[in-house]
Amino acid sequence: MTILVTGGAGFIGANFVLDWLAQGGERVVNLDKLTYAGNLETLASLQGDARHVFVQGDIGDTALVARLLAEHQPRAVLNFAAESHVDRSIHSPEDFIQTNIVGTFRLLERVRTHWGSLPEQDKAAFRLLHVSTDEVYGSLGAGDAAFAETHRYEPNSPYSASKAASNHLVRAYHHTYGLPVLTTNCSNNYGPYHFPEKLIPLMIVNALAGKLLPVYGDGMQVRDWLYVKDHCSAIRRVLEAGRPGEVYNVGGWNEKPNLEIVHTVCALLDELRPHADGQPYASQLSHVKDRPGHDRRYAIDAGKIERELGWRPAETFASGIRKTVQWYLANPEWVAHVQSGAYRDWVQKQYTAQDALQ
Ligand code: NAD
Ligand code: TYD
Repeated sequence: MTILVTGGAGFIGANFVLDWLAQGGERVVNLDKLTYAGNLETLASLQGDARHVFVQGDIGDTALVARLLAEHQPRAVLNFAAESHVDRSIHSPEDFIQTNIVGTFRLLERVRTHWGSLPEQDKAAFRLLHVSTDEVYGSLGAGDAAFAETHRYEPNSPYSASKAASNHLVRAYHHTYGLPVLTTNCSNNYGPYHFPEKLIPLMIVNALAGKLLPVYGDGMQVRDWLYVKDHCSAIRRVLEAGRPGEVYNVGGWNEKPNLEIVHTVCALLDELRPHADGQPYASQLSHVKDRPGHDRRYAIDAGKIERELGWRPAETFASGIRKTVQWYLANPEWVAHVQSGAYRDWVQKQYTAQDALQ
């Protein structure tokens, strides 16, 4: 048995692949374009492991996707591939439209054709799981109820609009063609191998480098944080027991304003790697110009996945953020290679003929 994972060299996809194989999951074909966010160094521990087949390519490459489906006959496709950074989507939305909308559409088309050709038993067992975000629901006011699956869509950034469009396409492929799809909308993730352009890794990396910690606006925007490995366990559970056509919201019941996150990171660094001169890391904090159209609050109501599938996060925010800071302190090479761009040479340097890019 095989699963096809797309975007499996990115932050969440790579954590998923590592956890999946560590837990004895079946073979993974990992299709990733290796944009700036794709980092094969994250998957270095899988070098030589026959259960991981890496393929560099685009989810929008219909010939390639058709070939992979025919050749490997996966029982499921898990779509993590996306452009994922809101700030980048504000500066240059085009890639977000191409990958998140057009790419997902083309992937759906190829998967639909493949699925249609399967024998009845395999057809019934097949799943396409689309990994998405709470940002499709827009922004909450301070007293509003958290996002349930039935919340209206009101995406505010080019990123969230492109993800919303992809969710609609996935839904339509179930409604129109009967494709057995599952969609997860998750809150903000954090944890190991997170690209240091996102809030938590950026703050850790900047703090250690003695740089400013740029807090957008007043820093009172609220996000709902989930440790990445808990997101991965939710995806495994949805794949295993989710009902085709259903949406599951995934979150950790951990709403926190950004300022509190930054202060927590600083306090952990003060404890684990204090500055030689005794200065607290929080002295590097700096309020900068706000993000245009900045969503004020996200919060996930994870009641459905808890009730129907019995999923619960294993980490509290306190345990997850400590693990995360410890991971960054223990892995300065990974960070340095990301910052210098050297991670991009990893493909050429580290991948042998055995795991050759196909
Ligand atoms: P990421 O940016 O770290 O990784 C994305 C990966 O997709 C990269 O490896 C990249 O090379 C690959 N990719 C991009 N375009 C591609 C294409 N056209 N074809 C094949 N591969 C392509 O993103 P992430 O944080 O790991 O997010 C993964 C998924 O989870 C995304 O769909 C995102 O919308 C969703 N999500 C993320 C968060 C979060 O907090 N990071 C929260 C909820 C949902
Ligand atoms: P981010 O990690 O980009 O995730 P998202 O925008 O998808 O929620 O940002 C999380 C929050 O942190 C968001 O409110 C923007 C804020 N932020 C800062 O204040 N400073 C920063 O340097 C970054 C990257 C984000």
